[in-house]
Amino acid sequence: MNKRPDFPLKVFPRLETERLILRELADTDAEAYFQVCSEYEWLRLWGFPVHRSPKDTLEMIRHQREAYEAGLQLRWGIALRGLNKVIGSICLYRFVVPHFRAEVTYEQARAVSGNGYMTEALRAVVRFGFDELELHTIEAGIDPGHAGSLRVAERVGFQREGYLRENFFFEGRFYDTILCTMMSGRPSTRPWKK
Ligand SMILES: CC(C)(COP(=O)(O)OP(=O)(O)OC[C@H]1O[C@@H](n2cnc3c(N)ncnc32)[C@H](O)[C@@H]1OP(=O)(O)O)[C@@H](O)C(=O)NCCC(=O)NCCS
Repeated sequence: MNKRPDFPLKVFPRLETERLILRELADTDAEAYFQVCSEYEWLRLWGFPVHRSPKDTLEMIRHQREAYEAGLQLRWGIALRGLNKVIGSICLYRFVVPHFRAEVTYEQARAVSGNGYMTEALRAVVRFGFDELELHTIEAGIDPGHAGSLRVAERVGFQREGYLRENFFFEGRFYDTILCTMMSGRPSTRPWKK
């Protein structure tokens, strides 16, 4: 089961960190978010076709909103505090509700990389996933060639758990995936009390 029956939440969860605001993506973010979604080389391992114009990005934002309303995903736009411009996004999706699991995926503009922003965003999303959505395990499927993404996940506390050979098909070829997971650290029995 990959739907959360409690989505959409009453209020979209805005997350704040020392340097970032994580918030719902709006149609007006299409121009800025397009800068993230249009860098082909950068997104080679992202697994989605590169965007050719802000129209593609607007369409994706709308599709993502529908997916949230259908209970399928929760995607935050990432903006630097003080600047409302979106520099990336991070998403919890593929919920396996009976097993308290979900997957996380993230991407940001190349221009802002190397500042630790995604590490900071992932920490906040993981905390939200464990504390508010009561997840037990969060997965990240990472291409073995994507050292930067692996470093982000491992810095936050994800551990390599498995190697999936040629499990991901994208634009005419199969790719391997390193399966990383992070666990809530809570007891392995439910229910538990906060
Ligand atoms: C995955 C991705 C977000 C990683 O970007 P990133 O810039 O390496 O990640 P962060 O923003 O967390 O920055 C971490 C880097 O900043 C450095 N850094 C600087 N200040 C920092 C701080 N205050 N805190 C943490 N790290 C800091 C770190 O040392 C690290 O560099 P290193 O990995 O060379 O050691 C980026 O490569 C990307 O968007 N790729 C395209 C999309 C994609 O493929 N996503 C993966 C799907 S699984």
